[in-house]
Amino acid sequence: MSKFTVISGKSSEDLAEKLSKKLKATIVKSEVRVFPDGESKITLTGKISKNKIVIVQSIYPPVDTNLIQALSLISKAKEYSNDVIVVIPYMGYARQDREFLPGEIVTMKVIAKLFKGAGASKLIVVDIHSLIGLKHFKIKSKNISAIPDLVQYFKKISLKNPLIVSPDQGGKKRAMKFAAEFGAECIALTKHRDRKTGKVQIKTSKIDQVRGRDLILVDDMISTGGSIIKATEFLKKQRCHHVYVACTHALLINNAEQKIKESGVTKIISTNTIPGKTSVVDISDTIVKAIK
Ligand code: R5P
Repeated sequence: MSKFTVISGKSSEDLAEKLSKKLKATIVKSEVRVFPDGESKITLTGKISKNKIVIVQSIYPPVDTNLIQALSLISKAKEYSNDVIVVIPYMGYARQDREFLPGEIVTMKVIAKLFKGAGASKLIVVDIHSLIGLKHFKIKSKNISAIPDLVQYFKKISLKNPLIVSPDQGGKKRAMKFAAEFGAECIALTKHRDRKTGKVQIKTSKIDQVRGRDLILVDDMISTGGSIIKATEFLKKQRCHHVYVACTHALLINNAEQKIKESGVTKIISTNTIPGKTSVVDISDTIVKAIK
């Protein structure tokens, strides 16, 4: 008998299924009814054993609904076990990890308290926006990188003199890691985001290095697509060849995918931390290693 029971949250059913198979664990599924007023009613289908429990629930939109479902699953699991491992493939609210403007509430800190209070004993996240977010969690925590899995995908594509590009200085380390594993050079653009309006601008003035080359833009996440669109428009003006996007979490809010394609991106590749059309890279093996 496996020492794990996997509880599959509604937002990560496919990934939970893959993890349960790889862990040879029993899977308990969630049946969810969201009432007209927005409340979630969760019923677990199956028997939870008193062994290590792994909860899998990504916190993508509807973020607050998926968050309350994660907390409810943690609380239920705690009734059966003191070993409650919570896998949040995409951690919503991770960009709210510090007070950028006076008076802002650090919601990541609030969520960290709720996770602990509900009974989580260990947290596993994938490419959290910044490690500062994890510091708020006063339980064991681990951030795993999807970069090796993304690199494997791109190694199978034939590219013309590839160059890895970070759309901003904040993501430079991530892009450098990609570049080192992929075996290519790396550059980082300078992006400015207005903290009040959210408007994005590329401040880099000119780069001859990109001319005629295939580029891979590496980012942790795409939300509205603003960062990728501005970066692509700039890089196309510098007369690059194709632009590919490699990101861990593709939220693609509204019609972001179409807008990104229209800006000149050839292909968007993301992982299955968030299910979707672009989520072709499976990170279940990497998560299993972190659980064991
Ligand atoms: C920002 O620092 C992040 O790494 C992403 O570049 C950003 O959050 C993506 O958001 P959007 O797609 O709305 O520009």
